[in-house]
Amino acid sequence: MSNYNINSSEDYKRIYDESVNHPEKFWNDLAKDNFKWQKHWDSVLNWDFKKPEIRWFEGAQLNITENCLDRHLINKAQKTAIIFEPNNPKEKSEHITYESLFHRVNKMANVLKSKGVKKGDRVCIYLPMIPELAISVLACARIGAVHSVVFAGFSAIALSTRINDCNCKIVLTSDGSFRGNKILDLKKIVDTALKDCPQVSSVLVVERTKTKIHLEKGRDYLIESLLNEASQDCPIEVMDSEDPLFVLYTSGSTGKPKGMVHSSAGYMVGSAYTFKNIFQYKDEDIYWCTADIGWITGHSYIVYGPLLNGATTLMFEGVPSYPDYGRFWEIVEKHKVNQFYTAPTAIRTLAKESIDLVNKHDLSSLKVLGSVGEPINEEAWKWYNINIGKNKCPIVDTWWQTETGSIMISSIPNVIESKPTYATLPFIGIQPVLMDENGNEILENDAEGRLCIKYPWPSMARTIWGDHKRYKETYFSSFDNKYFTGDGSYRDNKGLFRITGRVDDVIIVSGHNLGTAPIEDAINEHNLVAESAIIGVPHDIKGNSLFGYITLKEASSASLGESLKKEINQLISKQIGPIAKLDHIEFVSGLPKTRSGKIMRRILRKIANNEIDNLGDTSTLLNPEIVDEIISKVLH
Ligand code: WTA
Repeated sequence: MSNYNINSSEDYKRIYDESVNHPEKFWNDLAKDNFKWQKHWDSVLNWDFKKPEIRWFEGAQLNITENCLDRHLINKAQKTAIIFEPNNPKEKSEHITYESLFHRVNKMANVLKSKGVKKGDRVCIYLPMIPELAISVLACARIGAVHSVVFAGFSAIALSTRINDCNCKIVLTSDGSFRGNKILDLKKIVDTALKDCPQVSSVLVVERTKTKIHLEKGRDYLIESLLNEASQDCPIEVMDSEDPLFVLYTSGSTGKPKGMVHSSAGYMVGSAYTFKNIFQYKDEDIYWCTADIGWITGHSYIVYGPLLNGATTLMFEGVPSYPDYGRFWEIVEKHKVNQFYTAPTAIRTLAKESIDLVNKHDLSSLKVLGSVGEPINEEAWKWYNINIGKNKCPIVDTWWQTETGSIMISSIPNVIESKPTYATLPFIGIQPVLMDENGNEILENDAEGRLCIKYPWPSMARTIWGDHKRYKETYFSSFDNKYFTGDGSYRDNKGLFRITGRVDDVIIVSGHNLGTAPIEDAINEHNLVAESAIIGVPHDIKGNSLFGYITLKEASSASLGESLKKEINQLISKQIGPIAKLDHIEFVSGLPKTRSGKIMRRILRKIANNEIDNLGDTSTLLNPEIVDEIISKVLH
């Protein structure tokens, strides 16, 4: 990123100012000098948030895989692009060079073509975290097909809903998937899903677990022999800048998932530039993001961001608990990982385990730690900093969304200092603002409001697949001429942002706005507490009262009963004020979570309000069994 690398706070300030004072010039220069284009653009940006309509680099032509693969063949053909670490540590890891990745992507692209896939067609990818997942993503992009990756832990219903919503005719899957000591029968799930998807004409199956599967004649094909026969050369499809690159589903506050549509050129520029600078990636580094490619984090920071920069990116097939809870640290040691990017929920889970599992591994290769997906509470932040980073690795708490495509607010190692629980400052080109309930911009610091973005950035989603009206309503209707994130944020007196959580999680108690995240932070400070979730229940006098679901590090501590509840409330009182005390506390053995680790508060809210007849869809939960346990505890 030549002129625009950010290596000091002066760089940051200078480039940030340039990016907001002269955004078109800035993005023009950045994009022109750092990517391979088939044709340059006629205009840098056309936008209208009222319609809404956003177009970046209009008139340009490119293919993102030429930028991820072909251009690295000159200097980096033998460099490792992907390190694949299998679920079972006894199985050998695999190092895939840029040259080999290039050939494997081309072969996959040719197989897709042989099944009739053309530019603009949607391809559903339902694969575990094996190299073929990244390869299929890139193969689609190479031939201009729109990939729709569905996390290979979603149920058949969730899968068929997504296949049908964007009308995929091809599905890529595997016989099964290894998850710790379990095998998940993916092909069976696909078979069930496809009963509701008559338009699907081909299913391409990677054999991973060698489990017995049913192959539907004329529809299902084992992919290996097709790949062996395919040519390792495949020309790029030339894409217009605004041609969709992929659809990725994210859950909305209601009903149907939203298929966020990302563009070819803008997404490329955003994911590449953020990756390079926020992780301070240097050429020989080994970078590892523990997310699944089924989520936006995996799209932008396992596949595209790293490969656009010619980086080495590690893909891990397994789970943090197998063969034991030291697996992450074992992998860091084994591959000498330099940048490690994970989620607070993983950090909290691992922090509950014996510290010996961390300390027996050499983590000295680590330089930068990252966090993403939810606000990271102070206790988890400190544990991560002390035990994993050994107080020497800057932590980047990166705030962003499926919709934003790339990181929006984050510290930058040795450039913008980390501050526990703060995402800190906007990345280059990002213009966040806080809005009050009346739709006015809050200009002063030391204030809290709704987080909006007032100017377009290249990697923003352009629409919701098939539902532009919903795109407009969800993101552009709450505040005039602004993108509304759905999150609340506090901005301290130095202008640093601290994301307080979804604004639908704000609870008003006796007229005071209380974010659930800070209360949960306070509770989690208690040394017996593992995790907590606060919801509001209607209260005659206060409007709402607070109801806390709490999991304990050791279930037996629940026997402390009232005295423990009192201690927890004292902690809240101390950290926030008596107003934030909980009226009701329930100790539970787990919280209902989505597969990306988010707590499903909607369910907790309904149980606390005795509305269990109408819990809504629980099929996307990671641990649906917990719901019954919580119901019986709360209501009996
Ligand atoms: C939350 C994940 C606090 C936020 C990339 C956002 C965060 C939603 C952070 C998007 C963070 C993500 N601090 N909250 N660092 N990162 N969030 O679409 O509420 O899965 O709106 O994208 O996660 O989740 P999504």
